Amino acid sequence: MPSSASRPPSSSDYDVLVFRGVRAIDPLSNLDAIVDVVVEGKVIKRVGPNAAVSLAGLADLGGPGGQRVFDVPHAPRALLLPGLFDLHTHLREPGQEYKEDLESGLGAAAAGGFTDVCAMPNTRPVNDNRAITEMLSYKSRALGGTRLHPIAAITVGQKGEVLTEMADLKAGGAIAVSDDGYCVTRSDVMRRALEYASTFDLPVIQHCEDHALTAGAQMHEGAMSTKLGLRGWPRVAEDIIVARDVILAEYTRAKYHVAHISTLGAVRILREAKSRGVPVTAEVTPHHLLLTDALLLGYNTACKVNPPLREKGDLEALYEALADGTIDCVATDHAPHSSLEKDCDLTDASPGMIGLELCVPLMLGLVHKGIVPLQRLVHALTAAPAKIAGLPPSRIKEGAEANLTLVDPSAEWTVTADRLRSKSKNTPFLGQNVTGMVVMTIVSGVVAFDASAKLGYEQSRQARPK
Ligand code: DOR
Repeated sequence: MPSSASRPPSSSDYDVLVFRGVRAIDPLSNLDAIVDVVVEGKVIKRVGPNAAVSLAGLADLGGPGGQRVFDVPHAPRALLLPGLFDLHTHLREPGQEYKEDLESGLGAAAAGGFTDVCAMPNTRPVNDNRAITEMLSYKSRALGGTRLHPIAAITVGQKGEVLTEMADLKAGGAIAVSDDGYCVTRSDVMRRALEYASTFDLPVIQHCEDHALTAGAQMHEGAMSTKLGLRGWPRVAEDIIVARDVILAEYTRAKYHVAHISTLGAVRILREAKSRGVPVTAEVTPHHLLLTDALLLGYNTACKVNPPLREKGDLEALYEALADGTIDCVATDHAPHSSLEKDCDLTDASPGMIGLELCVPLMLGLVHKGIVPLQRLVHALTAAPAKIAGLPPSRIKEGAEANLTLVDPSAEWTVTADRLRSKSKNTPFLGQNVTGMVVMTIVSGVVAFDASAKLGYEQSRQARPK
């Protein structure tokens, strides 16, 4: 690790990280307690009350004394969580690096508390081959920090016709397949995709949209679209695909996952399917939980997303489904677009909004309102998406790899463009006050993001020469 006399020591220069008096939550072991957590190297060394009695004692924790210790002092408000996992991110590399690239996107992910993100394949060119999948894996590893897990396309060029070489894609590092941005509408192609993907144990993530029903649509179809004179995207375009795919998942017994679920009807279908043991899972985005189509009244292009923002009744169904586990996880669908694609007429604007750096405060807002229990939210942002991706979950327990997210749930801040690391600033939350801030993100024992100094968490940091 670099160390330089010409700059103050940074937390990445330390061998031992100590979190004193944090509220640590690990839903997999029902841990929710005020404890000390001591990280040494890549590993969580101790978890428990008074695990870090004194800094002097720390020298004994892992061998010879003189280790460099980064001490996060007693901070009763802080939450220490297993590293957050985003199943649905658009990083735009290769091909649209003016919107985002691996460095900016993974930096935004770390700032948002994510230790792991899965990158969707709708890049230019599409990630439908092993060369791109491997490039993403290698390049992101070289960057360090938040880990990238590529999702490769289901069909060549995301055209919905010819299946990709899934064995190759899996060997190159793909953890799932998806044509996200487009739906696999042909039933025969979807059936074969499920069968083929299941031979490699790859989940199939579907963007549920019957394109024949959404041609020219700018927003959700309802009273608001009628009022605005805009062509609508009816709920049934999502429901029809979810219903058909559930039937195919039951038939093939393949792992099927619904991306960005948004309708009351899709939730009902999913709940019924799950009650019969069909292998289906689903994710919901913070924006589909929080925003409605009423925001389109001002033709705000930042609110144009696919699927579109729905109505209050849909949001209520999504809350209930997230709370009861019908919806497995929360995913950001971080979709960066530049001003070229957003500072224009609504009809010309690209759909999507950024989400990595706003997920934690927005979702904590739902916790503060009593809509989602905190334990359930943490599960939906950690173990649940990791399981769907077939990856080991981050844990807070002795001996586990140190993948951690430290959050101040009561820190208030205003969302402004200059606070966001993403290259793109397309979010309707600009200018809004939010509560909840990511303080640190630790990936395999290395600090990937650190705002602790700003928040006054690091007064007792002690550096000792090695
Ligand atoms: O709003 C969206 N934007 N939904 C998608 O499915 C794709 C995404 C994008 O790539 O911009």
